[in-house]
Amino acid sequence: MAHLLVTGGAGFIGSNFVHHVIDHTDHSVTVLDKLTYAGNRASLAGLPENRVRLVVGDIADASVVDSLVADVDAVVHYAAESHNDNSLHDPRPFLDTNIIGTYTLLEAARRHDVRFHHISTDEVYGDLELDDPERFTESTPYNPSSPYSSTKAGSDLLVRAWVRSFGVRATISNCSNNYGPYQHVEKFIPRQITNVIRGIRPKLYGTGENVRDWIHADDHSSAVLTILDKGQIGQTYLIGADGEKDNKTVVESILKIMGQPDDAYDLVTDRPGHDLRYAIDSTKLRTELGWTPTYGDFASGLAATIQWYRENEAWWAPAKDGVEAFYASKGQ
Ligand SMILES: NC(=O)c1ccc[n+]([C@@H]2O[C@H](COP(=O)([O-])OP(=O)(O)OC[C@H]3O[C@@H](n4cnc5c(N)ncnc54)[C@H](O)[C@@H]3O)[C@@H](O)[C@H]2O)c1
Repeated sequence: MAHLLVTGGAGFIGSNFVHHVIDHTDHSVTVLDKLTYAGNRASLAGLPENRVRLVVGDIADASVVDSLVADVDAVVHYAAESHNDNSLHDPRPFLDTNIIGTYTLLEAARRHDVRFHHISTDEVYGDLELDDPERFTESTPYNPSSPYSSTKAGSDLLVRAWVRSFGVRATISNCSNNYGPYQHVEKFIPRQITNVIRGIRPKLYGTGENVRDWIHADDHSSAVLTILDKGQIGQTYLIGADGEKDNKTVVESILKIMGQPDDAYDLVTDRPGHDLRYAIDSTKLRTELGWTPTYGDFASGLAATIQWYRENEAWWAPAKDGVEAFYASKGQ
């Protein structure tokens, strides 16, 4: 039994991780979350109060961070500004949270000699050509495209330096695109699902040929627990579930599961610098640490996610109109 500090635990993947920890371990969790527009207390509703505590605060606030890190066995660091489109519009919060916030946490982990796991993204590797047989591995050179991915790449490099220079007991994971419950409606899959629920046609950037490698957030959580448990200090592990799909296929799958004609969507202006393809080779995690995903089948994970959005309109409805107004102002 351990006490974990989960930063960003009121966000999409962080809250899925907290639910996963409560369901599958005896650990207790302190969540540190600033509750930006992307954080939501309601994502932690119903969890046992004697095992989960939410502290509202900023990971770049050294005094808050120091007092919390002093009191835990491990830090699992999810908090980030995470939306590419926002990073193109206003990069500054990405530097403050992703770079300075990570630095602040690392310094506290160093002072208190606390185990640290850093959550990152495959977007640090840039993109692959659509017809390229290659997939990202732990030795792929960093080549980020956006302010979001460049600040995540910077935070990964800080973690590596704090391991090497100061002996911080840290691991890193770079995961592919997640889907599942509690994801903000600004993101691709929940936006399209909630559009269909609201009777709005789904929107596809460009021609929909861009490929993402989808993994259910619950599989991401089990991989992170595996790394916390068995990962080697200083190592990076790629997390992926062999879920490559182009965006057009994803939209058509959503429409099909939701009983709509599979061409009932609109094409909209592409995002500038839109990465073409991501694909993860997770052999190291699977062979060295023995992890396997449980949602092997994207269609069943997607159907479960659609069901969750149908049943939890009260969770997503408050953000929906504002998100659609924002996209509409950009012709998307
Ligand atoms: N979404 C994906 O597909 C994906 C894939 C791979 C890796 N990741 C990584 O996983 C992590 C979580 O992503 P997500 O999609 O859940 O993001 P999210 O935007 O849904 O959640 C981020 C959370 O961090 C909190 N936060 C933001 N700034 C903060 C600050 N300064 N201090 C404290 N809390 C702050 C927000 O309130 C929110 O609860 C990120 O590090 C992201 O880079 C995401």
